[in-house]
Amino acid sequence: VSEPNRKLLEMYQTTVDLYHYILMETEAGQAALDYVHARGLSDELLREFKIGFAPDENLLEVYLKDRAFDDYQLLHKSGLFITSQEGQLFDRFKGRVMFPIRDAFGRPVAFSGRILVKNEQVPKYLNSPETDIFNKRKILFNFDKAKAEIRRQKEVILFEGFMDVLAAYRAGVKNGVASMGTSLTEDQIYLLERHAQRLLVCYDGDEPGQRATKRTLDLLEPYGKMELGVIMLPDQMDPDETLHKYGLEHFAKILQENRVSPIAFFMQLYRQGRNMRNEDDQVDYLHDVLPELAKTNDRIQQDLYLNRLADEFHLERADLRAQLDQVVSQVG
Ligand code: UTP
Ligand code: MN
Ligand code: MN
Ligand code: MN
Ligand code: MN
Repeated sequence: VSEPNRKLLEMYQTTVDLYHYILMETEAGQAALDYVHARGLSDELLREFKIGFAPDENLLEVYLKDRAFDDYQLLHKSGLFITSQEGQLFDRFKGRVMFPIRDAFGRPVAFSGRILVKNEQVPKYLNSPETDIFNKRKILFNFDKAKAEIRRQKEVILFEGFMDVLAAYRAGVKNGVASMGTSLTEDQIYLLERHAQRLLVCYDGDEPGQRATKRTLDLLEPYGKMELGVIMLPDQMDPDETLHKYGLEHFAKILQENRVSPIAFFMQLYRQGRNMRNEDDQVDYLHDVLPELAKTNDRIQQDLYLNRLADEFHLERADLRAQLDQVVSQVG
């Protein structure tokens, strides 16, 4: 690590400690503490993840300067401030619950801050900008803590949000990670491939979540090293909401039992918004589903789903098979 980067890492550690202290121990953090408590985060969990609160005031510059972080350029480049035209530093994060983002070695390198009360004017989550120590394309939230469990189970679960990773963690499912609100990057996929044989996508059950699941599966498909699956949640909820509704034990069970193959996921996805008793919709559906079926080399799986489709739509199995083979040859 270069000297400026070492200093920057120290600055982040110091800031993590400050925000955490404010949340846990001060009057200024009380409303935020009530908020995270109401969302089910225990003090033990808050300590373990060093979750914090950035109050609605400018305090960080003075605090850091008092602790010998007095290199203006470094403060300016840290991502912790917004610099005015005159060069003044203002705290970037204000009035937000602070989730430290750690690198693979467990060192905090960035933050994501959530506002207490959602409103249209500002983003719900605000992330640190990229810096010399934070490349968001390479970082996966919680990878440092999850790594050992990923290797042990040979499996990783990919969530949409930080709160979802924490929900799973609370339920004893500790091999969960999340990207930084973006789609997976090649770097992140290589990282996961090195440790996991199986990847399960457990995104929000709402429509954007389902679309993102499709995107992620399409993205992962050409890599082909990891076996892929989807955890489908009930009632269009996200994992954190599912935990809230069903409780820890039932939620943990859902994470185990609601696993389906990518094909099974696609088969239900393409049903949505279609009337499966309408013939045109049926044809459209088959046109969507067969290419997905064509992607697997698993003949048994193909046959299984072909049989189901044949039964459901009263089609000849042989006709479907012929269609599928045609698609396969087109896909190449
Ligand atoms: P969601 O809208 O599903 O948020 O976005 P969430 O995780 O359920 O958050 P809570 O429960 O309301 O607190 C999923 C993820 O997308 C990114 C974040 O990483 C979030 O966890 N995101 C979302 C942003 O980066 N910025 C936003 O304004 C919103
Ligand atoms: Mn409380
Ligand atoms: Mn979502
Ligand atoms: Mn969500
Ligand atoms: Mn949520």
